[in-house]
Amino acid sequence: MTKIRTAVVGLNMGLGHARAYALSDKADLRWVVDLDEEKAAKVAEQLGCGYTTDWEKALDDVEAISIATPHHLHLPMGLKAIAAGKHVLMEKPLANSEEQAWELIRAAEAQHVVLMVAYIVRYFPAAQRLIEAIANEEYGKPLNANCFLEGYLPPAPDSWFANKEKLGGGVLFSHGCHYIDLLQAVLGNPVEVAGLGTRLGTEWMEGEGTHHGIMKFESGVLAHITSSWGIKHKNPPALLQIHTTEGCYELSFRSGLHKLVVRKGTEVIALYEDQLDPNRICLAEVEHFLDCIRSGHKPLTDGYEAMKSHQIIWSMYRHQGTPINLKITSQ
Ligand SMILES: NC(=O)c1ccc[n+]([C@@H]2O[C@H](COP(=O)([O-])OP(=O)(O)OC[C@H]3O[C@@H](n4cnc5c(N)ncnc54)[C@H](O)[C@@H]3O)[C@@H](O)[C@H]2O)c1
Repeated sequence: MTKIRTAVVGLNMGLGHARAYALSDKADLRWVVDLDEEKAAKVAEQLGCGYTTDWEKALDDVEAISIATPHHLHLPMGLKAIAAGKHVLMEKPLANSEEQAWELIRAAEAQHVVLMVAYIVRYFPAAQRLIEAIANEEYGKPLNANCFLEGYLPPAPDSWFANKEKLGGGVLFSHGCHYIDLLQAVLGNPVEVAGLGTRLGTEWMEGEGTHHGIMKFESGVLAHITSSWGIKHKNPPALLQIHTTEGCYELSFRSGLHKLVVRKGTEVIALYEDQLDPNRICLAEVEHFLDCIRSGHKPLTDGYEAMKSHQIIWSMYRHQGTPINLKITSQ
């Protein structure tokens, strides 16, 4: 099997992609790229590949590229890579507006290259197991879902993610998107959504640092998702509960421990539990991308699939300014 020649640009989250390409026997990691030359050189030494600060130099030499740069760079970098005929694994989100996202999708179609969005959570075995269990109605039909994404980002007012235009929104767009994607994968299309955000506690961000979103799905299921970058206590960074006619699925990710259980009264049934090796965190996702390039199959999280979660979020944001005015009266 000839290996697919790859590069990764942006070596924070992109480091996970680079490690995965280096581990996979389906890929030949040729380049790692970062504006921080020292960082790029260090990663290149660890992984045994070339490094550069000029991502276009790496483009010429590869068939596929992971783009793991700030969100406002996804469109220009994605378009350039696609125009050069390269397959693209784009870190989430695809782009900062619907128009930009369609531009990338159409460009990839015109060039017959794979465009996949790196919705890493979808490729975690615990999440796959949840999708399978719900599809097969192993523990009844879903009624209600709650999702809590709790994290703390130290104030970084000069960073790109403090800037609403560069980030494309706030915590919901940047972090909540994983679980909006998972919820729609499990529960289908929502038909009504609403959202409220606040900057309280994360005033250094222009976008919201805490967000509550609600969704009603075609089936009638209701879901609520809280995402925050301003939470200081140590709870699981991600907890998703899906209540069904027979019990409650609980999916949690905490310090690398991936767990899926079903709670039925006081009974707890373990469906999946594993400590994920941080070096292999992107491996399943990256290998899916490589398999799609080889087979010509559509990625599970292609542009169209990503567009669903993005449209949900953009609709929640549009709703944000228009809550129903409520005045509690005493009589
Ligand atoms: N899947 C996840 O759980 C997860 C977690 C964090 C970030 N992300 C995503 O990864 C992407 C990057 O986020 P991050 O947190 O790693 O950002 P970051 O700012 O921490 O890192 C971005 C890196 O890209 C480099 N860079 C920026 N512009 C560049 C350019 N023109 N050429 C080469 N290198 C350049 C920077 O030097 C930096 O090292 C975003 O899309 C983000 O949403 C995903």
